[in-house]
Amino acid sequence: MSSAPQIGLPLDRVDGHAKITGAARYSAEHTPPGTAYAALVCAPIASGRVSAIDAKEALSVTGVLAVLSHLSMPRIAARPNLVPSLAGAAAHGQSFFPMQDDRVHYAGQPVAMVVADTLERAGHAAELVRVDYVEEPAVATIEQGRDQAYEPERIFGGFIPGRTEYGDAESALAEAEVRIEGTFHLAPNHHNPIEPSATTAVWEDSHLTLYDATQGPTATRLTVAELLGVPPSQVRVVSEAVGGSFGCKAMIWHHPALAAFAAQYVRAPVKLSLTREQMFHSCGHREEQEHTLALGATRDGVLTGIRHRKLSPTSHFDDWAEPSVSPVGQMYACPNFQGVYNLFRANTMTPTFMRAPGEASGAFVLETSMDELAYRVGVDPLELRLRNYAETEPGTGRPWSSKGLRECYARGAELFGWAGRDPEPGVRRDGDWLVGTGMATAVYPVYSAMNPQRARARLHADGRAVVETGCSDFGTGVGTVMQQVAADALGLPADAVEVRYGDTDLPNTVAAVGSAGSGAVSAAVHAAGTALRDRLIAQAVADEGSPLYGAGPSGVRVAGGRMFLGDRPDVGEDYTDLLRRAMAFDVEALGEWNPPGPQSQYGMGTFGAQFAEVGVDPDLGLVRVRRMTGVFAPGRVLNRKTARSQLMGGMLWGIGQALLEATHVEPGRGRWANASMADYLLPVNADAPDVQVDMVEVEDRVVNPLGVKGVGEVGLVGAAAAIANAVFHATGRRFRDLPITVEAVL
Ligand code: MOS
Repeated sequence: MSSAPQIGLPLDRVDGHAKITGAARYSAEHTPPGTAYAALVCAPIASGRVSAIDAKEALSVTGVLAVLSHLSMPRIAARPNLVPSLAGAAAHGQSFFPMQDDRVHYAGQPVAMVVADTLERAGHAAELVRVDYVEEPAVATIEQGRDQAYEPERIFGGFIPGRTEYGDAESALAEAEVRIEGTFHLAPNHHNPIEPSATTAVWEDSHLTLYDATQGPTATRLTVAELLGVPPSQVRVVSEAVGGSFGCKAMIWHHPALAAFAAQYVRAPVKLSLTREQMFHSCGHREEQEHTLALGATRDGVLTGIRHRKLSPTSHFDDWAEPSVSPVGQMYACPNFQGVYNLFRANTMTPTFMRAPGEASGAFVLETSMDELAYRVGVDPLELRLRNYAETEPGTGRPWSSKGLRECYARGAELFGWAGRDPEPGVRRDGDWLVGTGMATAVYPVYSAMNPQRARARLHADGRAVVETGCSDFGTGVGTVMQQVAADALGLPADAVEVRYGDTDLPNTVAAVGSAGSGAVSAAVHAAGTALRDRLIAQAVADEGSPLYGAGPSGVRVAGGRMFLGDRPDVGEDYTDLLRRAMAFDVEALGEWNPPGPQSQYGMGTFGAQFAEVGVDPDLGLVRVRRMTGVFAPGRVLNRKTARSQLMGGMLWGIGQALLEATHVEPGRGRWANASMADYLLPVNADAPDVQVDMVEVEDRVVNPLGVKGVGEVGLVGAAAAIANAVFHATGRRFRDLPITVEAVL
């Protein structure tokens, strides 16, 4: 048995084989005997009310069991507390629940639900439900809602204030030697994971089991329990395989509770799968946004003041904005900052977390403005960043728990070949293509869980271990790092550790959101693994039959499935011998990590540097990303392969953000006009350039026991800005609207 440390190795995903061979079971693939299928009828209007529903024809379809609407739908028991699921609590997004009255707040709102014995019959009957509406004027875009803007007290599920200020930004801007100001428009974006959301609801007496695609099984449990008025202990959520999410399965939307209500109503298991089109209006999106950013600086490019305003639509029931203003106040040393959110009520589903929620948009605005400042003062863009390097957290002055950004800049510049760059825009050609390079900073906060994180580790008498946590793995590789962390704690090879996750029957860990999943889960698994190891060692040193009898526990080491004395490796025994002698089938231990909570005396963030080279064909309006380099400092890297894949995925998404992704609203109707994978443009492999990813290791003793800062989102932050800055360098034209379309470039 090998005893080399497993943490950090580029091990294959534990779920990889099952996923690529089709053996992995997704939520819609659970079909208990007698399962019925639900199909939603969604409002084609964005505002108004339902005046009549005629379900006669739908009910006459063979196999149809029920048609539910606000006339027949059970009333929800309570609206859950609006606490983001990072706390493991009931989730935001449920302050509105459909089919409780006749109001229509947004296009795509479910107004009826058909349940039938087959998916085809349910879908067919849903088309036969006749719904009459009284339509009212809808507000859906910034152009329509700008006049009704207000400043919310708090946003982002109540977690972030509507205004952040330190110093005196107004005076600093008024007195600044150099001033840059720009208005930016960012189109709405949608997540589009491969697997659309789905829930299969099964009641057994008063107990409900939900097979649900979610980033947080516990958050689903608590939310659905509150909506249905059922004790949480009677709701079990299973989330074995989840086919991507990017934030759209972080909040708990309507469909799990609708499936549960339907299953109760027809007294049979019910499966509700959202269609691809329904995904565009059922689980949130990144909202349309307008930013105005003003930078004040000295002639040398040292920032003196930043003022940032963001205007965006929110729903009629939640004050939601993605916090794009926060990263702007976090990135550079600047004594004066003012960041303000403005919202207006629109006929839209509540927007939600979407990968690097706020950071991706805020960094685009700040980092293209910094590029503009670099040109204005005649300083290299990378040098400008170094002149404004934040040695401590801006605003609070707290020391960073760790940073490593200087090292990221240096390593990225070296890999990319930044040195000696000719700043002159619009002068390099490669055939028909204008060529340019750009760079940007990446930052993503390190969120800490707020409640105890638990895992269980069990060693069987055959020497194999099982480690369990309730969290789901929605494609990030968290299950794989559980295996590595447990293997090291127990001194076992990775393949002797089996992982189980994605089930509320297992010890609870936080929802995998905010790039915090691997930090929380690794802390819990490490705690469980070391607790089990200590138990085994304690048992050995107390066992007269053990070669370790009488030894001090602290002097005992573990490796290769064996316990031995640190200074006498030949004295020891295998776990299996200890367990056999004790006639124990297995030994298990629960591990718990109690996070320090948000009141840290440290600033905590993950940093990185992004570089991009583009070619622009000015005659055809085409922008092609030719290569990208990203270097990040994510603390302890648990698995170099999965971490690199996460970071690369984020960087590639930067191409989508910069050049392609936009959801368009049908004018006057408030509907998403391109709600399909064919019409919502995404980068594909043919758009993917050579992407170089590297990591700078920094030690962090603050964030969590293993010093893991997370890689899920930071790879996207700054990627679009690096591309847009490269477009400026290629063409001499500054683009402030995303995506940078062919029409805009022409
Ligand atoms: Mo992430 S956008 O917090 O799921």
